[in-house]
This record gives sequence, C-alpha cells and structure tokens, in this order.
Amino acid sequence: MKRRVGILISGRGSNMVALADAARDPAYPAEIAVVISNDPTAAGLALAEARGIATRAIPHRHFGRDRAAHEAAIDAALAAEEVEVVCLAGYMRLLTPFLVGRYAGRMLNIHPSLLPAFPGLETHARALAAGVKFHGCTVHLVTEAMDEGPILAQAAVPVRPGDDEAALAERVLAEEHVLYAAALARFLTGDAGRAPTAALHNPLPDTLPAP
Ligand code: GAR
Repeated sequence: MKRRVGILISGRGSNMVALADAARDPAYPAEIAVVISNDPTAAGLALAEARGIATRAIPHRHFGRDRAAHEAAIDAALAAEEVEVVCLAGYMRLLTPFLVGRYAGRMLNIHPSLLPAFPGLETHARALAAGVKFHGCTVHLVTEAMDEGPILAQAAVPVRPGDDEAALAERVLAEEHVLYAAALARFLTGDAGRAPTAALHNPLPDTLPAP
C-alpha cells in the first residue's frame, strides 16, 4: 500500500515534481498527499495543482516571529492529510525542534552538496571556490541541526573545467531528481530508515572502470 507523503517547498518545486511523477507509478511506494509552501507565490504550488495534488500555502509572514504557530499550522495541514512521511524539497525555512520532533525519523531533506561538505546556501559557488573535483547532492533524515542527520543516499557529479555556478547547479539538479525519488522509495521499502546505507546512485564519469 502506498504511504502518504507530504512535501514542503518554498519555490520552483522541481524536486517535488520529480517525487510526484515517480509516485504516479502504481508500484512506487508513496503517494503525494499534499504539497505545502511557506511562500504563496511559489511556482511549485501551480505545478502540484496541475498534477491534481492537494496544495496549501501557509505563509510564514502571516505569523510574524511566531515560528511555533507557523509550524503548528503546517503540522495541522499534514495531519489533516494523514501524512506519514515528510519530504523537504527546497523548503528554505529552518525548522524548530517542534516540527522536527513530530516527524523524527520520518522527515527527509535533499541538499545540493555532498554533505557534510557545504551545508547552508550557495553550495555550488562554494564548491567551485574550493576547487573540489566532485560535487553532488545528499538525501538525509532531518534532525535539529541544519543540513545534518543520517545520510540516506548521495549522488556525485564531476566538476568540469570551465564550469560556472549555473552549469554545475544544472548537473547536480538532474541528479537530485533521480536520487530523491530513489532514496524515498528505498526509505519506505527497505531498511534505510533504520540504518544509513551507502550511495544508491553514483554517476561517476564513464571513463572510470566499472566496480
Ligand atoms: C534544490 O537544489 C534543493 O536541493 C535545494 O534547493 C533547491 C530547490 O529546488 N535545497 C536546499 O538548498 C536546502 N538546504 P526545487 O524547488 O526546484 O526543488
């Protein structure tokens, strides 16, 4: 039976679309119960609606500095849709221990770097500045600390000579879409929720010998 997943977004929503499109497969272990955005203008809301998914805009600005009240509203919206697992997909607000605790062990995030390298913002620019030869993305369980928590899956991409931030971001984003859907499926069906596993998907350059 499909598990009910809620997705939190703040903007473009391309990772949300990747999860929603994967979930259209009857064999995929999740259905997207609701997409919630803290930004009512988020492009992802319309993309979710176009796919027939329930959406809610819960603007943090309506709650002023009362983060607890904002998260209580999100929690109520998730509960109303009987959400079991939450996926953060470009949700750009820090969560308080309240919501993290409510979904402890069943809240996933995708981050555009190979954590623990480059937590936070502007990961692609920082990767280029650091001169790393591989960059990528990580799906991890959410804990109270930002961009930390047990790693469920990672995908690496090469940094190519001449890459700028946009080119690198595009290469990573394509891997994010594949990785998130695969990692969520594995989390729901396998033992990845109990013990972090090795990489699911690691598209190394095909000049390297196969393992
Ligand atoms: C994605 O690259 C995601 O990894 C990143 O925001 C982007 C959202 O794009 N998330 C973070 O930086 C979280 N720390 P999307 O809205 O098209 O999925």
